[in-house]
Amino acid sequence: MNIIDIIEKKKHSKELSESEIKYLVEEYVKGNIHDYQMSALLMAIYFNKLSIDETYFLTKSMVESGEIIKLDKVSGIKVDKHSTGGVGDSVTLVLGPLMASVGLVFAKMSGRGLGHTGGTLDKLESIPGFNISLTDEEFIHNLNESNIAVIGQTADIVPADKLLYALRDATATVDNVSLISSSILSKKLALANDALVLDVKVGKGAFMKDVESATELSNLMVSLGKKFNRKTKAIITNMNEPLGKAIGNSLEIIEAIDTLRGEGPKDLEEIAVVIGSKLMHMGGKTNNEEEAKNILRENLKNGKAIEKFKEMVKLQGGDVSYIDNTDKFKLSNIKREIFAKDSGYVKEIDALEIGIASRDLGAGRLSKEDTLDLGAGILLNKKIGDHVDEGELLATIYTNKKDVVEDICSRIQKAYVFDDHKKDYKLILKEID
Ligand code: URA
Repeated sequence: MNIIDIIEKKKHSKELSESEIKYLVEEYVKGNIHDYQMSALLMAIYFNKLSIDETYFLTKSMVESGEIIKLDKVSGIKVDKHSTGGVGDSVTLVLGPLMASVGLVFAKMSGRGLGHTGGTLDKLESIPGFNISLTDEEFIHNLNESNIAVIGQTADIVPADKLLYALRDATATVDNVSLISSSILSKKLALANDALVLDVKVGKGAFMKDVESATELSNLMVSLGKKFNRKTKAIITNMNEPLGKAIGNSLEIIEAIDTLRGEGPKDLEEIAVVIGSKLMHMGGKTNNEEEAKNILRENLKNGKAIEKFKEMVKLQGGDVSYIDNTDKFKLSNIKREIFAKDSGYVKEIDALEIGIASRDLGAGRLSKEDTLDLGAGILLNKKIGDHVDEGELLATIYTNKKDVVEDICSRIQKAYVFDDHKKDYKLILKEID
């Protein structure tokens, strides 16, 4: 077997065998296949596509390229979620404690933010002392203790994806549904959970720009998940405005804490409840999703969800007094309010622009090495469908970078578009079982 024959085969749209795909992944990770050869193959895959079987074999080989964290020493049904990335998306922080509060185990490996999208790990690190680098033993111990733990992905998990993703990024071959699915699912499958719900974001602030491509990606990931015997469902959600009202690390933690107390923005609560209801039903906790939704909403009000969040923070070394009193979170020194220059109903808030503005305030990274200002970000005071009078508060920004303030204020002004009529905003666009 050799790489040139494999490239030749894909160039002519022929189907690759399991052994060829296994060879490719193994030899690439060992450094025996050059980047220029893998680049040629990726471009052939981009144009000629992979079949579902080929995608399955690719995903399997990618999982096998690294460590698999078994959870058989953890009692209970283990559940997981994945978001394809958005702006203000702190669903994991709300969903995890909710799942633990109903007796499911939320075992989660999360990522850091890059570009205009935030990452759960950065948000959690806003809590002083919070440790995202647990050993496998500590991870399992915490799951048995409190049903919830959120950790960073270690270097040993799916090394093939790290190499392939960087190469795809540099060769304009990211946007192929088979390559995206194998990349996302391999990382999910490396942690042996029982059920998974994928939140595929669509819209300006998301990776997928239209419902059609989001549906194709969701269908493929759900089919693949099932082929691996993982109960898998997907929802497609709207990312044409940021989720919730907070964008930025400490700001999103505070918003998640409010939501866990039943006092958060309704859109964030809704997505957490919908995903949670699917996981509860898949995990055998209820007979249907409606019953699950009622239980979850109740746990946001009766203190059970926030208690689970506090347990997780404590077990992972974080300072719980910040959860009891969110005024302790230190926001950046410069605070500026932005007021409406027009009146009307908010028709659009450019989520991509808001995500980029938040990054430029210091809340996000341009490259992996950048350090974050955890207290920087944006609080939106108005969302799509809200009525605004001229001079009313639209948003507040927090930063330590004096020189970006004026420019960002005007960019946020422009991100808001008004109309004379109230526009409905559909949050959950599709559910894929
Ligand atoms: N997220 C991933 O993890 N992989 C992709 O290929 C795209 C988005």
